[in-house]
Amino acid sequence: MRVPRHVAIIMDGNGRWAANRGLPRGAGHRAGLKPVRLCIEECARRGVEALTLFAFSSENWKRPITEVGLLMQLFLEALDREIDELATRGVSLRFIGERDGLPAALAERMRAAEARTAANPGLKLVIAVAYGGRWDIVSAARRLATEVRAGALEPGQIDEARFAAALALDGLPEPDLFIRTGGDRRISNFLLWNLAYTELWFSDLLWPEFDGVELERAFADFASRERRFGLTSEQVGAGAC
Ligand code: FPP
Repeated sequence: MRVPRHVAIIMDGNGRWAANRGLPRGAGHRAGLKPVRLCIEECARRGVEALTLFAFSSENWKRPITEVGLLMQLFLEALDREIDELATRGVSLRFIGERDGLPAALAERMRAAEARTAANPGLKLVIAVAYGGRWDIVSAARRLATEVRAGALEPGQIDEARFAAALALDGLPEPDLFIRTGGDRRISNFLLWNLAYTELWFSDLLWPEFDGVELERAFADFASRERRFGLTSEQVGAGAC
């Protein structure tokens, strides 16, 4: 079975999962840790190279302050609890997003986790925190403009490859498979540039319900798709891709 090199996931539905049970929204976010662990284990086991999880979007800052605080606390606790295990399994961790507004303790733990696992040869786990696809593109444009102003780059040298190298996922293969739980069929300002040719797969399950069976369905569906990247079926059949 063809395995995606890079899987990207929007983990949606925690709040509804909790509301369905008469629980506070935070209980849904906590319950969402179980499928996070499952996806990490399964992707590593199947030989997926990179897994990117959308944990907190640029827009999530507008949620009630109590929920934002709770999520930040949950990320901190989860990182403290899981880092040894992730490091032992050879996972390398990377965080993408705007770090400036994050609590100092969380930003420090993120930096330390990246430094500790940078050389690990296993699954590349990317957590998007305070991330937005538009923020990513604007940041890349700003970076390139700064290089142009410094005389290190000619505007004519900016091509797709150069632009992609200024984005947060630089160095990783583009996501092959995008999964979104929670029933909505949209990208919600996730990896806008990088999802250009990604296969999209949507699940009606709420994120805390996401399990190995549903993940297997997503992988099986991915394996059955013909990826043409703008070419014809005949060209793909002849090995042009
Ligand atoms: C979206 O559900 C989920 C989030 C904003 C938070 C995701 C966080 C986790 C799964 C917890 C741990 C993750 C890591 C990587 C440590 P929602 O609140 O928008 O749900 P709703 O649409 O039902 O309201």
